[in-house]
Formats: sequence, C-alpha cells, structure tokens
Amino acid sequence: MKNIQEALMARERAYTPYSHFKVGAAILLKDGTFIHGANIENASYSLTSCAERNALYSLYSQGYKKEDIVSITVIANDHGPVSPCGACRQVMHELLPKDAKIILANTKGETLETTPDGLLPYAFVLDEKPHDE
Ligand code: THU
Repeated sequence: MKNIQEALMARERAYTPYSHFKVGAAILLKDGTFIHGANIENASYSLTSCAERNALYSLYSQGYKKEDIVSITVIANDHGPVSPCGACRQVMHELLPKDAKIILANTKGETLETTPDGLLPYAFVLDEKPHDE
C-alpha cells in the first residue's frame, strides 16, 4: 500500500537520539502528492515535535489546505498500530477535514483506520464556543 510505503520513508528521516522511537507520517492529497513528517527530538525534551504535527504544519506552510487532504498515515515500530498523543489528536482534529481517513499502522503490518472525531471525540473547537468579540 502506497500510504504505508510513504509513511515508512518519512520515518527514516526521524531524529530520535533520546527515545529511539521513530515515527513517520504521510499525508495523501487529492492530486496524488504526499506530504511527509517525522518526529524531531531535542536535548530539551519538551521541544520534541511529533511526526503528525510536522507533516500537517509542513502541508499548511506549503500553501495546501484541509480541502486538499484525503488521508494521513502514521507508522512506528509499536506493539499495535501507533496511538497518536493527545496534542496531535487536537491538531489533527482542527487541520484535517472531517471525513479524512486516519490510518494508524505499525511495522508488523497491523493497521487501524479512524477519523478526526473517532480519534478525539468532543474536541475543543473555539469557533463553536461563545466568546468575547
Ligand atoms: N511521537 C510521535 O511522533 N507521534 C506519536 O503519535 C507518538 C509519539 C514521538 C515523540 C517522541 O519523539 C517519540 O515519539 C517518543 O515519545
């Protein structure tokens, strides 16, 4: 499956001298383009940036929009399909279209498919809340 191959390729670029846990993400666009992301760690651990967020921020930085997105595939060498952290779930919920396919995978070939609402029910969405001005 091309999605998995692309996510594995992205994973090769991870910078993980501290956790040694490499994660790759590949976002498929409607025009067939793939946008990649890998996790990038730092000696100041909390500055680490996850693969999913790096891929999505790269996509928006290149001028693409959520309407361009078909799916995101995330892969790691984990016991089951990799489970995105809470921060990435919040970011994916906002930056992916509602009907995006989220494919979670591991290097053993196990996969789990979900959606932004499936991954983060009751997400925080600012524009649906009453707020000042
Ligand atoms: N990590 C990701 O890149 N994505 C996830 O979904 C889970 C965690 C990274 C952050 C850190 O570099 C390493 O995995 C271990 O937590």
